[in-house]
Amino acid sequence: MTETKFHKVAVLGAGTMGAGIAQVCAQAGSTVVLCDISEEFVSKGAARVQAFLQKGVDKGKTTEQQRDDTLARISTSTDRAAACADADLVVEAVPEDLALKNGIFRELGALVKPSCVLASNTSSLSLAKVFDGVQGPERCIGWHFFNPVPIMKLLELVRTDATSDATIAASQDYGRLLRKEPILVKDSPGFASSRLGVCLGLEAIRMLEAGVASAEDIDKAMMLGYGHPMGPLKLTDLVGLDVRLAIADYLRDELGLEGFAAPELMRQMVSDGKLGKKSGQGFYAW
Ligand code: CAA
Repeated sequence: MTETKFHKVAVLGAGTMGAGIAQVCAQAGSTVVLCDISEEFVSKGAARVQAFLQKGVDKGKTTEQQRDDTLARISTSTDRAAACADADLVVEAVPEDLALKNGIFRELGALVKPSCVLASNTSSLSLAKVFDGVQGPERCIGWHFFNPVPIMKLLELVRTDATSDATIAASQDYGRLLRKEPILVKDSPGFASSRLGVCLGLEAIRMLEAGVASAEDIDKAMMLGYGHPMGPLKLTDLVGLDVRLAIADYLRDELGLEGFAAPELMRQMVSDGKLGKKSGQGFYAW
């Protein structure tokens, strides 16, 4: 088993990101509790991990032994306090709601071990606000993963003014154990990745809205002309239009830049339930 600094990990939120984070932590040898507010959510999260690992076996990328060992290290819980009480690391991947995240971390700050690192997978919210009033601000840090988590190589670490060098170093070490390449970014709206990625995605939607080209051709422009693995519209489908809309609104307010104003087409699609891959329809039919 790989030696890790974080032997016991609690992952809060069993959605696409939380399930992926639980998987990579378990693959690195940690014992993981995947936690959410209902049995239904945690079962779906566990099924996601199982399906991803099985696909890896089918593709010849993962052995049956690795699949079984990884799954054996993951348990599920709907009791957040119990799941976090003896954790060395908590990674939060709940919906992008500042009050929700801050409430969770305030509660956890008072009950986890003093040495426990508290990490948020927020993709753009201010970490200073996410961790506002939390006990032990020096152990609080942003850990931004990318979808699909087991495949994407980047781990964007986001430091607040209070994050200690020791917390950053432990995060970098563990990130490498997860087979990720960590980058270090200061706490600022959208960090490095979302600010650039959302900007490109919004402009692609504006171009589609204006009839510049079809969705397929806009995506091909970036894939074949610029070497992106996936075009900006398909990627928006993968991330979720609702997720990206919330980030765009937040970035426009925080940065005051009109370039982040969400196109009407995007708002319409979200209100019509066309959220991308997860709803079966976005710029593409899935
Ligand atoms: N287990 C193990 N390995 C797997 C696997 C599995 N279940 N599924 C796929 N893989 C491996 C494949 O074998 C392949 O490996 P090689 O390169 O060694 O051959 C690799 O992963 C790519 O998989 P595929 O060939 O099946 O698929 P693809 O080439 O079509 O790539 C993709 C799929 C990785 C998603 C690619 O399209 C891509 O990189 N897209 C962009 C994704 C992206 O930008 N994500 C970030 C979104 S933004 C975000 O997440 C942040 C946020 O805040 C919202």
